[in-house]
Amino acid sequence: MLGEERTTATAAGVYDWFLGGRHHVAADREAAIDSQRSFPLASRVVKYNREFLRRAVRYVAGAGVRQFLDIGSGYPTVGNVHEVAPGSRVVYVDYEQDTVDVSRRILADNPDATSIHGDLREPDGILSHPEVRELLDFGQPVGLLLIAVLHFVPEELGPARLVRRYLEPLAPGSHLVISHGTSPADERGRRIQDEWRQVYNHTVAETYRNRPVDQLTSFFAGTTLLPPGLVPAPDWRPEDPAYVPDPEDESRQVIVGGVGVVG
Ligand SMILES: C[S@@+](CC[C@H](N)C(=O)[O-])C[C@H]1O[C@@H](n2cnc3c(N)ncnc32)[C@H](O)[C@@H]1O
Repeated sequence: MLGEERTTATAAGVYDWFLGGRHHVAADREAAIDSQRSFPLASRVVKYNREFLRRAVRYVAGAGVRQFLDIGSGYPTVGNVHEVAPGSRVVYVDYEQDTVDVSRRILADNPDATSIHGDLREPDGILSHPEVRELLDFGQPVGLLLIAVLHFVPEELGPARLVRRYLEPLAPGSHLVISHGTSPADERGRRIQDEWRQVYNHTVAETYRNRPVDQLTSFFAGTTLLPPGLVPAPDWRPEDPAYVPDPEDESRQVIVGGVGVVG
């Protein structure tokens, strides 16, 4: 296990535990088990989100995109971008220095993928980062991934404006992939979201906020949102032909995902 010296939980570490990875420390495991106890849907929600990431990346790679900028990446493991789009160039970005240090060790022998320290809320620092400029060619389409991270950005920092700033330098044919905690209209959905939010704010030092689908749709301004639109994460282009959305599956209510094309 890498990064054993860390004694406080991080979002990446807690995610890693839920996904059955090998890069969490004891503090992550305790935080994850704690959250699982108070919110038993947690592990399924995390898996739905990661499965959405994989399907969306495969889709974008299938559209011919060969380079990805993944902001709020967590660890580059357990079926992450470079693993599901082999042959692509990938820059993973996270604002937790420990997550970046571990990620760089994992990717040390990979010339096509790297991990850099950057903060989603400071787009200029990420877009002009030397390793981003070296690995990614902004003259060609890029897959911009903002997966399970925008819900940490408060309203006053203008999350939609931030997304627009990231899209500005991207060539036509680039794809924007977002997943985000949502606010279901019905009472049962709202209760589930409240439980999820409390678990998040309690286990990792992040302030999580869910947003209604209408507002999240506006994050795709400047792109064409592909069918089926912004939908519960497991419902986005399921690869299993036998998949049928289960209205009784409460974990479907927690995160929505969608993909938009630039140009
Ligand atoms: C919930 S994990 C999601 C990991 C991965 N994107 C996925 O969906 O499986 C969120 C990650 O975003 C990172 N993060 C949170 N706020 C961030 C910010 N402002 N800038 C960069 N990374 C951030 C956390 O450190 C964490 O690793």
